[in-house]
Amino acid sequence: MKIAVFASGSGSNFSAMMGAIRADKLPGVEVALLVCDRPGALVEGRAEQESIPVFSFQPKQHADKLAYEQVILQELKKKQVEWIILAGYMRLIGDTLLEAYQGRIINLHPSLLPAFTGKDAIGQALEYGVKVTGVTVHFVDAGMDTGPIIAQRVVPILEGDTRETLTKRIQEQEHQLLPEVVRLVQEGKVKLIGRKVGVQ
Ligand code: GAR
Repeated sequence: MKIAVFASGSGSNFSAMMGAIRADKLPGVEVALLVCDRPGALVEGRAEQESIPVFSFQPKQHADKLAYEQVILQELKKKQVEWIILAGYMRLIGDTLLEAYQGRIINLHPSLLPAFTGKDAIGQALEYGVKVTGVTVHFVDAGMDTGPIIAQRVVPILEGDTRETLTKRIQEQEHQLLPEVVRLVQEGKVKLIGRKVGVQ
């Protein structure tokens, strides 16, 4: 299973995936490409260290989403990428990639969806005052964090939690859950049935 990881920032989840591959927890999974929309982002250095090819682009240098996604699609085809994993990619996926990779794009989000979609989900949860939040891995559709949910983990919000302490506990869960879901997908245990996802 050849995957491309899309990321915009620090890339701790990218490293968690690579760590799982190195530890033989993802047999048959190969990261064929990192796609990054912020040239110079930390995640690019992580990919270079792991000798993973990087496709880096600046959205503003293209006419629109259609234009840059066509370029991304060419890169994905060159590397024979079968699945796309969004691990901290802070952009909506457009029609070009949605059509080419229908049902084969997965996103990681730091809340219990459908609560707190979009940016700064951890800050939104703290601000709202919920007592539990968490992590969601879901299929991507045209909406903002609206696709069918594959797996979720609950993270309690503790008295005195700050953005930093909560982020740390959420990321600990993310680093386990994303590789686990990729493994289930690779094993053919994840089935999309309409709006619902069956996991064996
Ligand atoms: C992760 O917490 C991920 O859930 C979040 O970005 C972070 C990336 O961290 N994604 C979103 O908020 C998507 N809406 P990382 O760069 O250290 O992997």
